[in-house]
Amino acid sequence: MSMFLREVTLETIDTDVALWQEPEGDVGCVVWDAAIVLTKFLEVNSLNAGTDAGKCLIKGRTVLELGSGTGCVGLAAAIMGASKVTITDLPEFLGLMEKNIMENQDRLGCPVEARELNWGNEEQIREFPIPDVVLVADCIYYEQSLEPLVSTLYKLCSPDTKVLLSYEERTIGNKPLLQKKFFEMMEEHFCKEKIALEEQHELYRCEDIHIYKFSRR
Ligand SMILES: C[S@@+](CC[C@H](N)C(=O)[O-])C[C@H]1O[C@@H](n2cnc3c(N)ncnc32)[C@H](O)[C@@H]1O
Repeated sequence: MSMFLREVTLETIDTDVALWQEPEGDVGCVVWDAAIVLTKFLEVNSLNAGTDAGKCLIKGRTVLELGSGTGCVGLAAAIMGASKVTITDLPEFLGLMEKNIMENQDRLGCPVEARELNWGNEEQIREFPIPDVVLVADCIYYEQSLEPLVSTLYKLCSPDTKVLLSYEERTIGNKPLLQKKFFEMMEEHFCKEKIALEEQHELYRCEDIHIYKFSRR
């Protein structure tokens, strides 16, 4: 089966993020619902902030996305006014991320780069300048990479960096325990703020998908 193109609409600026997806493969090959909810929250935030640069989470900011998969959220940030975006994932996703950068080239408002970043890899982490914003969609998923994800976030952030993280609450298997552990680990280093449903996009929000904003203590 061949790849297909999925479009996530940014209605306030009358454009789409166009994303190639694989029909099958590892979890990073498709756009996850938590990525769409985070993308649409960023759009609402951008609209509500208007010309108040301080309130806008994305405009003029340097952005680093972890576990980008198709790159949906990072590419949307680049379309919505970020000053520089880096989308990252395991090396097997570099080709897909680069294809999606190319697909959106004429809509991007800033440079966007796809890079390998394997959570917990100290050498790789050191190569990234501290960003203003880190985006993470649906990455509380893997037992073995829970601690590396938290330590990577800690090392990539200064106290001024905002982490915007979305995830889908799952009730099967060890997922509830993983999610609980993730928040316990994050709370050692970060303050958290939950983004209320009312602050999110009125259609693209869901009781089971949560968005948190973290800042390093
Ligand atoms: C459920 S997918 C979410 C993809 C995308 N953020 C979205 O929401 O559409 C989780 C992503 O985390 C990436 N990932 C898993 N373990 C990783 C690791 N150790 N280092 C970097 N990325 C990892 C996967 O390759 C995958 O793209």
